[in-house]
Amino acid sequence: MNASSKKPKKSIRRRDLPEYLPPSNPCFVKHFGTPFQTRRSSTNLPKAYVDGFQNFYGRDFIVTPDVLIPRPETEQIIDTVLSLAGQQYLPGVKPPKRQLPRSPVILDVGTGSGCIAITLALEIPEATIYATDVSESALRIATKNATKQGVNPHNFIISHLLDKVKGKQIPTPDIIVANLPYVDLEWDWLDKTALSKEPSIALYADDHGLALIKQLIDQASELQIKYLVLEADPCQHNSIVNYATTHGYNQTSINGFILSFHHS
Ligand SMILES: C[S@@+](CC[C@H](N)C(=O)[O-])C[C@H]1O[C@@H](n2cnc3c(N)ncnc32)[C@H](O)[C@@H]1O
Repeated sequence: MNASSKKPKKSIRRRDLPEYLPPSNPCFVKHFGTPFQTRRSSTNLPKAYVDGFQNFYGRDFIVTPDVLIPRPETEQIIDTVLSLAGQQYLPGVKPPKRQLPRSPVILDVGTGSGCIAITLALEIPEATIYATDVSESALRIATKNATKQGVNPHNFIISHLLDKVKGKQIPTPDIIVANLPYVDLEWDWLDKTALSKEPSIALYADDHGLALIKQLIDQASELQIKYLVLEADPCQHNSIVNYATTHGYNQTSINGFILSFHHS
């Protein structure tokens, strides 16, 4: 999808918000201090579902219980891709060297509300963006958000991971971004009640939370995708880096929860 440019407006950061509750995950604590948790209403429904929207990177996105509520840590996927595209918005700082083609094809896998794909379409108007999800109900919300933000909704496509790229219904992207489910049901710090209103399909994965991320790396390496930008819990980063390395990917950065890789 190509989208018209909009003045970027950064959302406030996690630490500035009053709604984050005391830490419970030792990994979060070690790396970030206070973890993100969603604000609850009196009915125990996350506030974003009651309001019907959540801010992400300065824009409001429609959310329903069909989609994960966008998290502030995911915003660093946008910063990472902007940096690879040679764009940044810090005044007085020299822009980074552009790594991606001038008009990159970007694929967001597991788009949920569409927050990542739509933000990238608006922040990098020269890019062609595709977005996939395995959940039809999530994709309905993503296309609603795309239309609301003036982004072409036709490149939002149902697919298990990269199946539609392998099947050539989606062109081979220059870069894949993905915030796939990575929560491990076995984590002893996990507060399942806090997550109980969000779709399980958006949260949980087998193999210590890594099953889908590993499958994505398998497929991406088969297709020789050059750049990968992935979100995972910092506890999982070492395992992901090791797995990606055996598939020809060198880790190029870690930014909070976000890992980026380049295929050698
Ligand atoms: C953690 S949510 C992320 C949603 C959104 N990208 C965000 O960052 O807020 C993961 C998304 O991946 C989708 N998903 C789960 N399994 C998938 C699969 N096998 N292929 C594609 N998408 C999948 C879920 O439906 C969900 O929308």
